[in-house]
Amino acid sequence: MPTITQGDLYTATLEVVEHPPLGVPALDGGPREAVVRLAGERSLVRILDGGDGRDLDLVLPGGYRHRHGKVRLTAHRLAEGVFAIKAGEHRIALLRLRDPALGMPAFDPSGNHHPALRPTRPMRWRRARVQGRVSPWETLRLGAEVALPLLVQGAILRWRLGVRLAALIRADSRANRLLARLRDRHDGGPLMIRIPLRGWAVIPLKEADVRRVLHGAEFTPANREKRGALSHFQPDAVLITRDPELRAQRRAFNEEVLRPEPIAQEVRQKVAQEMATLPTEGVLTWSRFHAAHQRLARRIVLGDSARDDEAVTRLLDRLRADANWFYLRARKTDVRVAFQRRIEGHLRRAERGSLARVLAQTRTDPAVHPEGQVPHWLFAYDAAGITAWRALTLPAVHAGPHDPEHLRAAVLEALHRWPTTPAILRDTTAPTRWRGVTLPEGSIAAVITSFTDEVPFSDGPAACPGKDLVLLTATEVLAAILRDREVAALSRRSPLDHFGVRFAVRPRER
Ligand code: HEM
Repeated sequence: MPTITQGDLYTATLEVVEHPPLGVPALDGGPREAVVRLAGERSLVRILDGGDGRDLDLVLPGGYRHRHGKVRLTAHRLAEGVFAIKAGEHRIALLRLRDPALGMPAFDPSGNHHPALRPTRPMRWRRARVQGRVSPWETLRLGAEVALPLLVQGAILRWRLGVRLAALIRADSRANRLLARLRDRHDGGPLMIRIPLRGWAVIPLKEADVRRVLHGAEFTPANREKRGALSHFQPDAVLITRDPELRAQRRAFNEEVLRPEPIAQEVRQKVAQEMATLPTEGVLTWSRFHAAHQRLARRIVLGDSARDDEAVTRLLDRLRADANWFYLRARKTDVRVAFQRRIEGHLRRAERGSLARVLAQTRTDPAVHPEGQVPHWLFAYDAAGITAWRALTLPAVHAGPHDPEHLRAAVLEALHRWPTTPAILRDTTAPTRWRGVTLPEGSIAAVITSFTDEVPFSDGPAACPGKDLVLLTATEVLAAILRDREVAALSRRSPLDHFGVRFAVRPRER
């Protein structure tokens, strides 16, 4: 006789029969209201108010660890709509199905932690598959194929060797393939992952779940790992500000200063001047381009006098290298203070056509710490340079035309193919429910950008406020390079390894 029949949702009465006490009030006491979903191996019984004022979810049939040893709960059909629930050999309750229930209650296996009755491990794993929780093996694979390649490349300052390795093994496609498989296996996700010593992480895979993470009020961008990394060089940055009110003020300030309009004309000039320093004949390498782009970033952010201040960039890079180790590296306060002083020296001049000037002209509360926002701008300009460089490899760029609209589309295309922020991290600020499972406050939510369309600049209240400025700068960079040169990619390496990309250039015939 089958232990359980397939079926939908029912309301039921659980009548407890005489049995040795199990220590679970809901199973030792009198009649109880229950909601039941009968679906073979996946059948669930929710005893309403299963003790401690909480409902108790049971999975039938299945094993429970109990203080008297292992208990196997099974349900046996006795008559139409009547089931005997047995703990091992003992019949402990009768379950009388009444009416088909309306709607689908979200069964919560984490509510099942009655101290006297805990699911055995194999049952937890089986249930995990049902609920979108990934298995230990899947957790290992996610660690090895998604998280490790991100760390090996350097989360904040890219390491040449790590980037090369990741490109060689095509880490991005591997990660996407794994996520696609897990999405299918877990019914669309999100994936819920238990991380030792950290708690829970959730990876949204469907558009609606990604939206929820990026727009939801119960998620803060000031995630613990991000704070560990970014506080090495920008402890006052909006992105890692936890207090919601201060965050809102800093956000408004960033939005105001980073509008491209007030400095657009000067940005165009600066781009043209710096790109003119690159060769028009021979080989164009990343190191030549990067040096020119860093000069450009210093001019746009800090003013023209900062053009040759390589020391400020070196200090920033030292701190960024530490940031790659998150909390594992001690903070170098002396280096950070020296870096910040140098920045403030440039800001004081408030040169025309730079963000320093706009910053000086923008009124704000001192708590915002305007100067404390600047390290992020310098740091983030690196991503704009990497993106323009990768965009140069796109056939569409060579085919032309080289008008701003076309080049802007190429920049966006490069960002979609090779996002520069591989994971957008959030921490939950309240318990969140995912497919019936409640994850505690402080859990991580990680949007994997290469797997998710349309988020290279993120979305929602922490979306990149520098987006328009980035698009203006990168588009102008491409236009300036292509204006005077014919460009052809030399290596066949993946543009993911931007260090290894080289171009042959020769003067463009007019
Ligand atoms: C290709 C270039 C860039 C890309 C792809 C990019 C992308 C992003 C992304 C994905 C975020 C959200 C990060 C998160 O939630 O953890 C972000 C935030 C931010 N970006 Fe960008 N960014 C770029 C360049 C820039 C530049 C050049 C600036 C400034 C000049 C800038 C300013 C900011 C700021 C201030 C935030 C924090 C926003 C907040 O916390 O509300 N970004 N950016």
